[in-house]
Amino acid sequence: MASLLQTTALALSCAPLLTAAQRVVSMSDLSWTVTNPNYTISVTGNVPSQAHLDLYNAQVIGDPYYGLNDFNLRWVAETNWTYSASLSALDLSSNASTWLVFNGLDTFSTITACEQMIASTNNQFRQYYFEVAQALSDCTSPTISINFGSAPNIADALANTSLNEPWPYGTQMTYEFPNRWFVRKEQSDFGWDWGPAFAPAGPWQPAYIVQLSSNEVYVRNTLLDIYRQGQVSNLPPDQTQPWIVNASLDVLGTLPPNAGLRIDIRDANNNTVASSIASNVTTTGEAISGSINVGNNSVDLWWPNGMGPQNLYYATVTLLGSNNNSIATSTVRTAFRTIVLNMEPVSQQQLSQGIRNGNNWHFETNGHEFYAKGSNFIPPDAFWPRVTPARIQQLFDSVVDGGQNMLRVWASGAYQPDFIYDIADELGILLWSEFEFSDSLYPVAPDFLDNVREEANYNVRRVNHHPSLALWAGGNELENLELQIANESDPGNYSRWLHEYETLFLGVLLPAVYENSRSISYIPSSTTNGYLTLNHSAPMPMVERYNNLTAGYIYGDTDHYDYDSSVAFNLSSYPVGRFANEFGFHSMPSLQTWQDVVPPQDLSFNSSTIQLRNHHYPSGGLNTSNFANSTMGMGEMTIAVQRYYPAPNKADPLANFSSWCLATQIFQADFYRSQIAYYRRGSGLPERQLGSLYWQLEDIWQAPTWAGIEYSGRWKVLHYVAKDVYSRVIVAPYWNYTTGDLTAYVTSDLWDVVNGSVDAVWYDWNGSVLANTNTSTSVPFTVGALNTTKVLQTNTNTLGQTIDLSNAVLRLSLTATGYLPNNSTLTSFTHEFWFHPVLSLADAKLVDPGLKLTYGNDTNDPSWTVEATSGVSAWTWLDFPSGVVGNFEDNGFWLVPGLPRTVGFTVKNDSTGGEWVKNVTVSSLWDFTTP
Ligand SMILES: *[C@@H]1O[C@H](CO)[C@@H](O)[C@H](O)[C@H]1NC(C)=O
Ligand SMILES: *[C@@H]1O[C@H](CO)[C@@H](O)[C@H](O)[C@H]1NC(C)=O
Ligand SMILES: *[C@@H]1O[C@H](CO)[C@@H](O)[C@H](O)[C@H]1NC(C)=O
Ligand SMILES: *[C@@H]1O[C@H](CO)[C@@H](O)[C@H](O)[C@H]1NC(C)=O
Ligand SMILES: *[C@@H]1O[C@H](CO)[C@@H](O)[C@H](O)[C@H]1NC(C)=O
Ligand SMILES: *[C@@H]1O[C@H](CO)[C@@H](O)[C@H](O)[C@H]1NC(C)=O
Repeated sequence: MASLLQTTALALSCAPLLTAAQRVVSMSDLSWTVTNPNYTISVTGNVPSQAHLDLYNAQVIGDPYYGLNDFNLRWVAETNWTYSASLSALDLSSNASTWLVFNGLDTFSTITACEQMIASTNNQFRQYYFEVAQALSDCTSPTISINFGSAPNIADALANTSLNEPWPYGTQMTYEFPNRWFVRKEQSDFGWDWGPAFAPAGPWQPAYIVQLSSNEVYVRNTLLDIYRQGQVSNLPPDQTQPWIVNASLDVLGTLPPNAGLRIDIRDANNNTVASSIASNVTTTGEAISGSINVGNNSVDLWWPNGMGPQNLYYATVTLLGSNNNSIATSTVRTAFRTIVLNMEPVSQQQLSQGIRNGNNWHFETNGHEFYAKGSNFIPPDAFWPRVTPARIQQLFDSVVDGGQNMLRVWASGAYQPDFIYDIADELGILLWSEFEFSDSLYPVAPDFLDNVREEANYNVRRVNHHPSLALWAGGNELENLELQIANESDPGNYSRWLHEYETLFLGVLLPAVYENSRSISYIPSSTTNGYLTLNHSAPMPMVERYNNLTAGYIYGDTDHYDYDSSVAFNLSSYPVGRFANEFGFHSMPSLQTWQDVVPPQDLSFNSSTIQLRNHHYPSGGLNTSNFANSTMGMGEMTIAVQRYYPAPNKADPLANFSSWCLATQIFQADFYRSQIAYYRRGSGLPERQLGSLYWQLEDIWQAPTWAGIEYSGRWKVLHYVAKDVYSRVIVAPYWNYTTGDLTAYVTSDLWDVVNGSVDAVWYDWNGSVLANTNTSTSVPFTVGALNTTKVLQTNTNTLGQTIDLSNAVLRLSLTATGYLPNNSTLTSFTHEFWFHPVLSLADAKLVDPGLKLTYGNDTNDPSWTVEATSGVSAWTWLDFPSGVVGNFEDNGFWLVPGLPRTVGFTVKNDSTGGEWVKNVTVSSLWDFTTP
């Protein structure tokens, strides 16, 4: 019953409710043709779509993701594509006004109707609406056509205009097509280090024809802002205050004189919890706003994943005429919660708790600090129109399954469509959202800024009602990277570049947030040392700190990449900050995923198809011959594997390729696990570190990248290992391999004390328990809320005097009980972590673990039992064939004889009719040593 209502309201949030006389025709229902300028190609088109997809559909081009098509299809990006359709089936007369409403045109277009020029557009992220009644009134040829220009060519042309500036050397990061910073289009469409460059064009979002008579209005966008009375952006509100629900409608048509608003709030069972005429009604141009009070006790809170339930509500905003008659309504799904990024100075009370002076940099929801566990979400496809709710549901189910509560929606993809926020609202996934600016300096010409202002206003207003919206950031890697490069390569003009930066990110984007929302925090750059001062009544409310730091104090969040794998497990090479918003290393996808797009003869490490998909090439060296030959791309991965593990050397070339792909994934997962455990432990250290979001959640295509989930939906080793190290209560070792100091800590992100014990048992590689290790075998512990506690302290150099370190492994295993947030059921927690006191497992005395795999024989609930029969199994890996999408409950784990493990499998999609279960295999690191 609740789900029925949900479906209805979801549909409503895309197309607002209409009064009877309005006529709204979806442009998806017209018959479209896509043609190139000389008419040699003419195929059926769709709305929403992009030319590549329609050409692929018509078999004019092959699968854009196949082989080297990202290079072969450059011609598609370099020509114009015109979408045209007949309007003859529409009654275009008899209305006072007719509007063309486009929720998204990608990107440069010229629109004509009835052979009259209507408008041109130049921003992928804006909603455009044009009144066309006059053009249609004496129409002899009732057609609409949208001529999309080539974004790469137009970007090149814009580079020869006054938009261009003498930006300092190194700031304008270019991947494949140059000049992306001149165009308001998804920046990664021009190539990125994890993605292809297709630069698609087309009507990528829904579009409508709206006809209104003189007293009608159409709601084109709805803003809903729910906050605690007195709350302002960026500051923790008083949780005892009542809620204010502020609504604002953007309309087409003329607002009646003395218009009013009514706001009704209903719960998931359609019970009304609040219903009032809004007070403080204001109208500005095409928008009308007003607000109501909602008592604290009338509603239940919404919580992120793992912190409580996701209670959702429906808000219906009704536009009222002077007699309180209903003129138009809009319904959005929403919820009651506060979410703040707290960057306030460390307080006296925090100092007395041992927190290092400086500023905070952490999230609080409903007044609670919490540990943000998650990753970075890049565009899930190079072609947005083929991103379906089913695909995002599948991906976000993996996010929840992985124990994550936050995704950073990286700047320079696209603003997420509402359906993605809807799924995140349901699952409790917080979406740290960003404006689409990344890794370059941007123009500040007035027209450019006006265009950005429209884009920002529209998107801030569109998504503000979603409880999953956690933050707005101005862009990616600006303060920590762009301003630093500018300062280093052009110190004489630094004040100019800083001023331009502030013009865009503090002068345009900050007001877009603060003028529309009191519930969401804003930071100008994804990585930032925060503000020196914040004063909402000052003309420029935020004064940035930048590098005005006090020695010994801690500020801000961190972005950390180190491709020198020799220091990958040197803990002192990791940054100490309040929050880690990016860190990572690339790895290969699985053989199964490669096989989807690479012909058999190219399935080797050195084939050009594989190498050319690694876009992590030297800066400045952007041509293909350069990056194919670089130790920077592929070489980094293979060097890391050789450094830390026995390198695969199989006789069968395909088996060797597959093992190498897996080996690069093991290094990646090992490296991330080490960093995540380190950052999480920081929650109980002076840095009070409260978040880690690794780079990156998922893949845009099949390529060597930083992702944990492949394009096919298959989990790499990383996603399994991240799931494990994001468990609520973990035990992890911390080793200084120079001094031999070895400690282990228990870290908990629960909001209550947890009690338990850790067993620490040393084994040799045959699986026999080692005597003479002086490690006490069971250590009881109590760990506080969001805290950490030491459970082991020893030294491997000393230990090496009594045991052979190359024939020793330590199993740390934890059992504990405690309470989940907002849950009164006592819950048990377990976790284990295996430590090896040699840096490289190539130096360890590995033995054949004698792995045995047994299928559970229940086709409805597939599971396997894995057992090591003759030795310790390191990095035990269960593999499954293509044709099924899903994941094991657990993978990449270690086993010792006598402790078998049974793991289930979640099937998300099966095209093999259940046959796949016959081809599940198991291996371990030992298999790399066998030919
Ligand atoms: C027509 O345009 C396409 C690009 O869209 C180009 O490849 C082709 O050569 C042109 N054909 C003629 C006959 O001009
Ligand atoms: C290509 O599209 C752009 C943008 O709509 C337009 O300005 C230009 O005139 C078009 N060129 C052709 C040949 O259609
Ligand atoms: C919810 O309640 C309202 C007001 O009582 C009613 O108009 C509406 O039809 C109901 N919606 C559903 C889906 O039951
Ligand atoms: C209306 O505005 C007044 C003055 O700004 C404010 O005190 C009051 O809380 C507002 N009412 C609502 C429901 O927002
Ligand atoms: C640096 O910060 C201090 C406060 O911590 C402030 O008084 C000073 O003006 C700042 N300096 C600059 C150059 O912004
Ligand atoms: C590739 O790079 C290596 C090391 O810089 C260099 O010696 C070699 O000549 C390069 N090969 C080609 C084909 O450019």
